[in-house]
Amino acid sequence: MSLVHYLPIIIPCLLLHILSGEPAFAKVPALFVFGDSTVDTGNNNFISTLVKSNFAPYGRDLRLANGDGQATGRFSNGRLAVDFISEAFGLPPLVPPYLDPTANISSLITGACFASAGAGYDNATSDIFSVLSVWKQLDYFKEYASKLRSFVGDAKAQETLSEALYIVSMGTNDFLENYYAMPRGHAAQYAAASDYAAYLLGVAESFARALHAVGARKLDLNGLPPMGCLPLERDSRKGACDEEYNSVARSFNAGLQDLVARLDAGGGARVVYGDVYGGVADVVADPAGFGFEAVEVGCCGTTGRFEMGYMCNRASPLTCVDAGKYAFWDAIHPTEHLHRVIAERKMNTTLYVFQ
Ligand SMILES: *[C@@H]1O[C@H](CO)[C@@H](O)[C@H](O)[C@H]1NC(C)=O
Ligand SMILES: *[C@@H]1O[C@H](CO)[C@@H](O)[C@H](O)[C@H]1NC(C)=O
Ligand SMILES: *[C@@H]1O[C@H](CO)[C@@H](O)[C@H](O)[C@H]1NC(C)=O
Repeated sequence: MSLVHYLPIIIPCLLLHILSGEPAFAKVPALFVFGDSTVDTGNNNFISTLVKSNFAPYGRDLRLANGDGQATGRFSNGRLAVDFISEAFGLPPLVPPYLDPTANISSLITGACFASAGAGYDNATSDIFSVLSVWKQLDYFKEYASKLRSFVGDAKAQETLSEALYIVSMGTNDFLENYYAMPRGHAAQYAAASDYAAYLLGVAESFARALHAVGARKLDLNGLPPMGCLPLERDSRKGACDEEYNSVARSFNAGLQDLVARLDAGGGARVVYGDVYGGVADVVADPAGFGFEAVEVGCCGTTGRFEMGYMCNRASPLTCVDAGKYAFWDAIHPTEHLHRVIAERKMNTTLYVFQ
C-alpha cells in the first residue's frame, strides 16, 4: 500500500493540525537514557571505576562514520538497543553519553545517555563499583534540563522534555552483583529474592515519579533479561540456564508490569513496559530463527563463559571472528546483533505508540 492512497486523508489532517497549532504527528524530539551497561553509551569512560570497556575489542564492529571500530565504552562489539531506537525515531544513530567533555548542550539537544555500567536501582549496587547511582543520573539529567532551558528558552525546553522518550533499564546488577554475590551486604536484610524485588520496584517507582516531576511524559521501563541464560550464569559443565535466576527475573518483571500499568493509568504520562526478557528468551530458544549460531557462550575471551570488562581485551586469544553469529559478546553483554533484535521487538510491540 503506497503513501499516495493515504494522502487524501493525511493532507486534511495535517492542515487541521497546522491550523490548530498542534504538532502534526506524535513525535519524539529527544531520547534520554538511564540505567546500567545494557544502555550505557560511554559515561563510565569519564568516571573513576573499574567497570569500563573503552578498549579493543569492544566496539570493533561499530560501523559509523564518526566511530568506525571504536571502543566507545559501550559493552558490546557495536551499537546498543538504545542506539537503534534513537535511529528508529529519526534521531542520531549513537546516543551521546552526557559526561563526554566534548559534548555540549547543542550536541545533546536530540538526547543524551545518563546510564552507568554497573548501576542498579539499589544505591548499594552502584556503590560496589563506584558508578553513577540512579539518583546521580537524575541529578545530571536535572543539570541537563537547566542547561537546555538556558539554551532554547523555557517553553521550547518544556516541549522537548515532555515529548522526549525516557528509557530506563537496570536491575540485573542488583540481583547478580549485589543480592546473590554479597550475602552479608545491605541486600541480605531481604530474606527472599521476592522481598528484595519489592524493594527495587519501590525504587523504580520513585525514580519514574522523579522523572515525571522533571517533565517526562513518555517512559519505557525495561524488565530484566533471563538472567540465568547469560553465559556467566549458565551451569559451567552442562551449560544449562540457571532456572532460579530466570524465575527471579520473571517475578520482578511481573511486578514491573503491574507498576507500568498503574503509572500509565495514572494519566500523567504514557508508560510502557520494555520486554527484554521475551526478546532474549526467543533468541535462546530458537537461535537459527534469528540468524544466530551461538547463544550459550560469549564471543570474547577463552571459553566465552566468564570474561568481560578488562578480562575481555586485545590479548584474549580465542575471541570469535564473526560476532554476528553470537547472541552474547562477552559473558554478560549482548552483541550488536542481539541488541538490534531487542530494539526491533520493542519498536514493533510497544515503542511504536510514540512514533
Ligand atoms: C558545541 O560544540 C560544537 C562543536 O564541538 C561547537 O561548534 C558549538 O559552537 C558548541 N555549542 C555550544 C552552545 O557551546
Ligand atoms: C540513595 O541515594 C540518594 C542520593 O544519593 C538518596 O537521596 C536516597 O535516600 C538513597 N536511598 C536510600 C534507600 O538510601
Ligand atoms: C519487526 O517488524 C518488522 C516489520 O514488520 C519485521 O521485519 C521484523 O522482523 C520485526 N522484528 C522483530 C524482532 O520482531
